[in-house]
Amino acid sequence: MKKIRLVLTGIGNLGQRFCRILFDKDAQLQERYGLRFVLVGAADSRGAAYNHKGLDLAEVLLLKATGGSVSKYGEGGRPGWSAQTLVEFAEADVLLEATPVNLQQRAEPGLSCMRLAMRHGMHVITPNKGPLALAYRELQALAQTQRVQLRFDGAVAGGLPAINLGTRDMRGAIIERIDGVPNLATGFVMDQVAEGTPWEEALSRARLEGVLDGDGAWDLEGWDAAAKLVILANAVLDIPATLDDVSRTGILGLTPAELAAARKRGERYRLLACAERQPEGDYRLSVAPATLTPQHPLGALGSKHMAIRYTTDIYGALTTIIEEADPTPSAATMLRDLLDIYG
Ligand SMILES: NC(=O)c1ccc[n+]([C@@H]2O[C@H](COP(=O)([O-])OP(=O)(O)OC[C@H]3O[C@@H](n4cnc5c(N)ncnc54)[C@H](OP(=O)(O)O)[C@@H]3O)[C@@H](O)[C@H]2O)c1
Repeated sequence: MKKIRLVLTGIGNLGQRFCRILFDKDAQLQERYGLRFVLVGAADSRGAAYNHKGLDLAEVLLLKATGGSVSKYGEGGRPGWSAQTLVEFAEADVLLEATPVNLQQRAEPGLSCMRLAMRHGMHVITPNKGPLALAYRELQALAQTQRVQLRFDGAVAGGLPAINLGTRDMRGAIIERIDGVPNLATGFVMDQVAEGTPWEEALSRARLEGVLDGDGAWDLEGWDAAAKLVILANAVLDIPATLDDVSRTGILGLTPAELAAARKRGERYRLLACAERQPEGDYRLSVAPATLTPQHPLGALGSKHMAIRYTTDIYGALTTIIEEADPTPSAATMLRDLLDIYG
């Protein structure tokens, strides 16, 4: 049995669901892969917990479910420790980085945790778009120098393996275009408004459903989709794109009348993220709302669907869709990435 020591920074929607998956699947993972994943450290915004023998996942989950901090963990609670302190101190094999995107604060603490982990020889797995959108090239270079893996299959379109498909299954192809609906919140809100729900109420429902955070600007202004497109461009198309390279239009300019009219015609609006290959071989990157007819390959997406379509020279056009009723599939990508490294 191979023991893999994990450190988790961020124990919110995704972090907690990942712990639950690990708890539920421990026996299956040991039997099928001969792997025992042991969480030795975890951090939230109020502190950390560390125990080199392993933390009790049930106790971590109970603390978080009751609104507490892991720093209150019985044997190993470390009040006052930052996520960076934990990563610096921990003896572990993998960092799972699941703190908020925080682009306004230079993607911290995620970015520095990832740098620290790699410098300490840990692999890094993250669904956090912030550090990748800001510093993809630097992080990949660091991973190479340190001979560790940087994996992030959950960073684009939740549980849909958008990155894996693009990097592994489109090998050898010229990708003519990528069309994606990688953001859940915008589709959900536009569908609600198209059906006659006032904007503010649609936003409240999206928050209740857990698909929209805070004031919603990150999603509604198209930043989330743009960050995902930047990651796809770097990882799949191998172009050094940044957020500045994306022409970005969010959904706030749409009126309820426009949304309702499209619905009446049998069409629906989606926030499309596109990379289109130009004759010179470079790519035009854009995020903008578009009306999609039912015949469009992405035209039948429901309110909790995300999708990605690769159009290539040799593999034809491949469209994949995920229905993500809650963030469990997104959290499960951290297990997928772990098994890609060790399985
Ligand atoms: N939710 C999804 O469906 C989804 C899907 C794909 C990717 N993602 C990405 O995954 C990441 C986590 O998302 P989430 O939905 O789990 O977020 P979340 O529910 O807001 O949880 C964030 C976690 O990070 C902790 N945290 C915040 N600031 C911190 C700091 N300075 N130091 C240490 N910990 C800090 C929070 O601590 P407290 O517990 O103390 O508040 C919380 O545990 C984000 O980058 C998000 O973009 C999310």
